[in-house]
Amino acid sequence: PSPVITIDGPTASGKGTVAHRVAKHLGFHYLDSGALYRLTALMATLHGIALEDETAIASMARTLPCRFVHGHVFLEDADVTDAVRAEEVGVAASRIAVLPAVRQALVDLQVAFRYTPGLVADGRDMGTVIFPDASLKVFLTASAEARASRRYKQLIEKGISANMENLVKDLMERDARDSARSTAPLKPAPDAIILDTSELTAEEAVNKVLVWYAQ
Ligand code: CDP
Repeated sequence: PSPVITIDGPTASGKGTVAHRVAKHLGFHYLDSGALYRLTALMATLHGIALEDETAIASMARTLPCRFVHGHVFLEDADVTDAVRAEEVGVAASRIAVLPAVRQALVDLQVAFRYTPGLVADGRDMGTVIFPDASLKVFLTASAEARASRRYKQLIEKGISANMENLVKDLMERDARDSARSTAPLKPAPDAIILDTSELTAEEAVNKVLVWYAQ
C-alpha cells in the first residue's frame, strides 16, 4: 500500500504550508481536506441553504461539484480559489463540520483521493478517522498569537483586509467549535507526534516531518 502522512492541527498552525511542501518534496499527492469543508460551506451559502440544514448540506457534499486544477479550485465551473480561503468561509466551514451527516458524506471523497505513490493529508481528523493506518501522523500546534499573526500575514499578502482582534476571536471560536463537537473532534491521534511550530519557520517544520518520515 502507498504511504500516507497525516498532518492535523488547529487553524493557522501551519498545516497547509507544511503538508504542501512535504508532499512536493516527496513527490506525493496532497489532500487539503479543509478545502472540502470550505467548498461545501461556500456552496450552501451560494444556494441560500441554512448552515444548520444537515440533510440538504450532506446531500450536496456527497456529490460536491468541485475540481482541483493546477492550484486552482473550481466549484460548479466557477473559479473559487480566492473566495474559498476567505475567513467567513472558514468560519462557515467549521459550522457545517459539526454535522455528522456532512462529515460522513465527505469521507468517501477523502478516502478515494489519489494515493500512488503516496499522500500527504492535512486536516483535523486525518490521523484519527480518515487514515488511521497512516505511516506517519503529525499534530501541529502553535500559540494563538503566532497563529493569528500568520493568518493576518496570509490575508494581507492576498490583498484581503484583516483585523488582528477579529482574527484572534475567530480563531478561538473555531478552536472551541472544532474541539467540542461530538463527531471527530480536533485532537491528536494517540500515535501522533506533536510539533509546536510557534518558534519554527515553515522550513524547519518541514524538515522535522521529513526526518521523522525517513526514520
Ligand atoms: O486553514 P484553516 O485551518 O483555517 O481551515 P481549514 O483547514 O481549511 O478548515 C476549515 C474548517 O473545516 C475547520 O475549522 C474545521 O471545522 C473543518 N475541518 C474539519 O472539520 N475536518 C477536516 N478534516 C478539515 C477541516
